[in-house]
Amino acid sequence: MIKKLAVFIGEYKKFAVLVPIFVFCEALSELYMPVLMAKIIDVGIPNSDISYIAKIGGLMAGLACLAMSFGYLIMRYSSYCSHGYGANLRNALFEKVQTFSFQNIDHFSTASLVTRLTNDVNNMQMTVLMMLRIVLRAPMMLIIAFILAFSINARLSTFIAGAIVVLSVSIWLIMRTAVKLYTIVQQKIDAINNTIQENLIGVRIVKSFVRADFEKSKFKKVNDALTEAAVRAANVAVLNFPIMILVMNGATLAIIWSGGHMVFNNTLGAGQLISFLSYVFQILFSVMMISMIILMAARAQASAERILEVIETRVDIGDLSLKQISDPNGLSQQDTLHANDHSARSPSIGKGKVEFRHVSFKYNSSESGENVICDINFTAHPGEIIAIVGGTGTGKSTLVNLIPRLYDVTEGSVLIDDIDVRDYQLQDLRNGIGVVLQKNTLFSGTIYENLLWGNETATHEQVEAACKDAQAHEFIMSFPEGYNTLLGQGGVNLSGGQKQRLCIARAMLKQPKILILDDSTSAVDSATEAKIRESFYNNLAQTTVFIIAQRISSIRDADKIIVLDDGRVVGIGTHQELLKSNAVYQEINASQLEGAADHE
Ligand SMILES: Nc1ncnc2c1ncn2[C@@H]1O[C@H](COP(=O)(O)OP(=O)(O)OP(=O)(O)O)[C@@H](O)[C@H]1O
Ligand SMILES: [Mg+2]
Repeated sequence: MIKKLAVFIGEYKKFAVLVPIFVFCEALSELYMPVLMAKIIDVGIPNSDISYIAKIGGLMAGLACLAMSFGYLIMRYSSYCSHGYGANLRNALFEKVQTFSFQNIDHFSTASLVTRLTNDVNNMQMTVLMMLRIVLRAPMMLIIAFILAFSINARLSTFIAGAIVVLSVSIWLIMRTAVKLYTIVQQKIDAINNTIQENLIGVRIVKSFVRADFEKSKFKKVNDALTEAAVRAANVAVLNFPIMILVMNGATLAIIWSGGHMVFNNTLGAGQLISFLSYVFQILFSVMMISMIILMAARAQASAERILEVIETRVDIGDLSLKQISDPNGLSQQDTLHANDHSARSPSIGKGKVEFRHVSFKYNSSESGENVICDINFTAHPGEIIAIVGGTGTGKSTLVNLIPRLYDVTEGSVLIDDIDVRDYQLQDLRNGIGVVLQKNTLFSGTIYENLLWGNETATHEQVEAACKDAQAHEFIMSFPEGYNTLLGQGGVNLSGGQKQRLCIARAMLKQPKILILDDSTSAVDSATEAKIRESFYNNLAQTTVFIIAQRISSIRDADKIIVLDDGRVVGIGTHQELLKSNAVYQEINASQLEGAADHE
């Protein structure tokens, strides 16, 4: 796992190498201090040799400056390195998420992806920072200090060895429990983030349903759970300190007692005893540091796993050629078959003929495991307007989402111009298809910028023409800033119908061969909708248009109407044909006529 995540250090590798070298130098300079101090006490003071004391003192001051300089370099480069690492990791995750199919995103949920890109990456970044600063230093200090202490007096060193053993065992026992508890803490943080994100994304709905109190108590629950878990983990972790102090004081006492005798007997210098004691502190401090690192590593492990899960997700919709390079073993059998079938790939969509051949589909997350749509067969000829009707949840959106490969078919195939959609380059495929999704969204920026999403090179005239066709020009011009009006996140400052018309204009600007409108005029009044429809007939004669609509009035002029019921096609024909022969269609029509009559 560490290896897989270590690659993201990238161009910061040199700092990751430099910092430990600086740490080594800093530790050496610090560790040499007690040796010099012992010399002053044992040689300089008894001999009253001021110049010797000054010389050694000067050396100590120099060494302190050196240690300080290294300390500065360590701080500087370790933060540089860890921030760089965090940025690389975030970038890699973001790029990966961009390649995700809808199916992949459904699997993680957007909230969890946000947590992974922010919180988990921060955890990793902090860990790298601490690791660089401590991970080498602590064991190094421990070993060198022990060697130096041993060289002063071997017998006294046995006390240190004893203390290390006692400390290690108690730390190990504490850690074993703490690691488990910290994993729980991490999960609770995830739950909190999920709750916050869900609440904020849906804040308008929360307010309109007056669910604030419910949300508050829901949040309090996860918040309390986090506090409880964190306190439990901390309670165990803090045991470290009293044990540490106890062992440290015990060892010091034993060393002073035993070392004191040696000084009396003149087998040990007083200065040596003092420097020995400072090594003891350094050793025990290092042990504590090591225990801290272990604890941190445990916390980081949860984050690392969550990040790797994203990085290692197999993107189930992508270009075959790209996938073959990046993921040679990741192709499903179906993908491989298609790669072989059509070695010459179509460059881009031609006329826009769409054919469904025995298409069935089910969502990965579907609990029942049943197909959402089942054995769909039809052909849409270039330039036709195809309407899809059916009750809610019958699979209309699912069906059209298969055309631009927002999801891939489970069985059968979708063909455009007689070529399987999976054999197009994803970019070419999607560039040729304009989509207005049922849950469509706009982005923060000006209206004009949003429209250019459809076609970056569009001229102002083209933008205006598309907006006129989508009946959006008028309301855009009614804003003081016109096309330069700033939209908030998701286009909050527009009405539902205005948003829909902008989305239609955006899709039309693409001048696609195939245009998909999923319930995209539901918030537009009938008169405006009729005008939009008229412009389809006038300006999109070459475009194959799929319209999903609830109102029969929206689709009665369509060349072909596909009636869906429970994921199956139960009728295909024109309005008149279906009215005569199709029971489901008659029922939908009758219910709407009744509704209209009631209204009047
Ligand atoms: N992302 C998803 N994951 C799992 N199941 C889904 C997903 N999206 C839709 N479904 C399920 O698939 C079925 C068909 O949904 P779909 O959105 O295609 O219906 P629809 O005909 O467009 O309905 P509506 O008229 O309400 O838009 C529904 O039962 C729905 O619960
Ligand atoms: Mg739908």
